[in-house]
Amino acid sequence: MAGVPTTYDAPVHIAVIGGTGIQSLPGFSLAATLNIDTPWGAPSSPISILHHPSPTTGKPTPIAFLSRHGLHHELAPHEVKNQANIAALRHIGVRTIIAFSAVGSLQEEIKPRDFVIPDQIIDRTKGIRPFTYFEGGMVGHVGFGDPFDVALAAIVRQCGRALEGEGVRLHDTGTLICMEGPQFSTRAESQLYRAWGGSVINMSALPEAKLAREAEMAYQMICMATDYDCWRGEVGEDVNVEMVMGHMKANAENAKRFVGAVLDELSKEEHGDQVLARHLAGQMKFAGGMT
Ligand code: ADE
Repeated sequence: MAGVPTTYDAPVHIAVIGGTGIQSLPGFSLAATLNIDTPWGAPSSPISILHHPSPTTGKPTPIAFLSRHGLHHELAPHEVKNQANIAALRHIGVRTIIAFSAVGSLQEEIKPRDFVIPDQIIDRTKGIRPFTYFEGGMVGHVGFGDPFDVALAAIVRQCGRALEGEGVRLHDTGTLICMEGPQFSTRAESQLYRAWGGSVINMSALPEAKLAREAEMAYQMICMATDYDCWRGEVGEDVNVEMVMGHMKANAENAKRFVGAVLDELSKEEHGDQVLARHLAGQMKFAGGMT
């Protein structure tokens, strides 16, 4: 866009990764658009630096926004530039990531347009997506027992609860199945995931969450249900792209309000300090070349 700066001098600590249906965050002022190259190539999209006024101080907090599937949704789930995305965000200073995703519901009580804050993941990707930074002579093993950042999850849940009653329906926890795709599941697979205790299913939490953990960044996904996958087996009910897009579009305002509320909370000074503490801890512990 003409006139928008292509550099940004201050570190940016907070990022939003938008998924299907959230390709931008309106209502924030655009401060810069960054085209960053990394050793893993270019990210899925340019990174927009948005200014968000802190609700306590009024000072603008910079927020990085990256569109996971590209600016025009041109990247299939297995084509997303996960290593470059996380490395580019880390490079500009990000230590806290709110990731957004459309998901299929594997449970009757999780209805289309409900929000779920998952606390667990089952990996059903096929190992074809580059999934680690630790290779080629740099060996590392990170813990992933809790795949999401517990402190960040608490903030996200608190924001979601505050919006309940204003049109946001929230499920506080859940197990997210991350499948390979791009085809949707068979009915037998969908039933299997239910038997495993799966709550929701998508194609994009991994390796994003694993790479964020390796890069020592706090990461939490906010999921919005768009369909019942295919486990209910009722004619005409199976998930399809129109169904996913239709629910995403219809509930986009709630999704953006939810993300906005989380950014308000993260922009408050006390969380700013927490984020900075994580940032410094990350810089001390992370031995790789991404700081
Ligand atoms: N994203 C949205 N709905 C989905 C489904 N049913 N399976 C996998 N990913 C999805």
